Amino acid sequence: MSHYLDSVPFSGIIRIRDLMYAVERPFRLDQGDVSFDAPDSVKAAMAKAIADNRSHYLQTAGLPRLQELLAEKLRRKNGIAVGSPDEVLVTNGGIHALYILFQALLDPGDEVIIPDPQWPPTSGTILSARGTIVRCPLHEQMGWRLDVDELAEQVTPRTRVIYLNSPHNPTGGVVTREDLEAIAALADKHGLWIVSDEAYEDVVFDVEHVSVASIAGIYSRTVPVYTFSKSYAMTGLRLGYMAIADAALRDRVRKVLFFTTSNVSSVVQYGGIGALEGSQDVVEQYRVELQARRDLFYAGVETLGGFFSGRPPSGAFYAFLRFDPGWKARRATPSDTRTAPGHVSATTPKNGEVSPSWELTEYLISAGRIGCIPGADFGPLGEGYLRFCFARERPELEGAIESLRRLFR
Ligand SMILES: Cc1ncc(COP(=O)(O)O)c(C=O)c1O
Repeated sequence: MSHYLDSVPFSGIIRIRDLMYAVERPFRLDQGDVSFDAPDSVKAAMAKAIADNRSHYLQTAGLPRLQELLAEKLRRKNGIAVGSPDEVLVTNGGIHALYILFQALLDPGDEVIIPDPQWPPTSGTILSARGTIVRCPLHEQMGWRLDVDELAEQVTPRTRVIYLNSPHNPTGGVVTREDLEAIAALADKHGLWIVSDEAYEDVVFDVEHVSVASIAGIYSRTVPVYTFSKSYAMTGLRLGYMAIADAALRDRVRKVLFFTTSNVSSVVQYGGIGALEGSQDVVEQYRVELQARRDLFYAGVETLGGFFSGRPPSGAFYAFLRFDPGWKARRATPSDTRTAPGHVSATTPKNGEVSPSWELTEYLISAGRIGCIPGADFGPLGEGYLRFCFARERPELEGAIESLRRLFR
């Protein structure tokens, strides 16, 4: 039995999800799942794969046709100089790609610099590989960007990887080309790897998404990671991929890929081929609708009398909002004590202190049926914030705002 795993924290997002199952008519703004369904191109390709008996073992790294289409997409859309399709490895979603990649990259105690705040499975997958996390602050006043000088100060002889996530979960920040060039130069100078998590590459509003691996000379030490989850509304189907130029690293990753999945579901891989061969209009349609939902949600937030603050994000589909620390005094029913359903340990004091963002989250769930994620779950700098996912249907977003309006004066 691995006692070590007991020290790897499980994301609070999962705890919230379990809490939400007990809520009737909930507003599910907690999890990062889009309300759209996968396009017909995906469904038809999967149905055909089933009818054609595509139910046998496959090559570990992925169906050759899928690798070929992905290599072409990486060259054309992301500007990455992918040589052979063999450089592409197909995974069981983006989280699986990160898990096997960190297993292959890290020796125990190797340091990985990650943003603070950050989507919790990033640290979970690093810690599972016995890596050490070093957090680098993102600055809200800089559009949730990191300061490259501060990043440089975090580099030690044990640093192995700089992890980037742009567009960013939870803040929606998008890293500029200028910053990426500076980070690439830093990685080059110190001989570091860059893991570039581009799960939200297609969800950008009025800014450009730049893949760091497209910067001249840096693909050899960068692993760009992608998923079909957000771009093609395929969250439950589980399909992701990464590109690795370095043959030695690729061999290690292929080993862990084999041990953890043998091959990704054949039917789902055919679905991926359908997604890439079909019309790409759907990706743009989702993006446009997400922008409209962002604007709708923030217009609602504006009506809450300054309860929340924060600028609309440039990318991804989350509102990461700072809340009024005096929120208890603003409750419409001040005597309402429903802050913590007894059986839940979410507000259990840590080091003697109760987390304000957990406390407010529990109140919103129990008194307002509103799912959200406490900022503290994303790292120390996330305390004082809540994350709401605005990729839900418009009536659900409006319902959540209405519920907030009723809860607070
Ligand atoms: C930053 C980030 N990276 C990667 C993923 C992986 O998504 P999936 O495992 O569904 O492909 C997510 C999903 O929410 C994410 O937010």
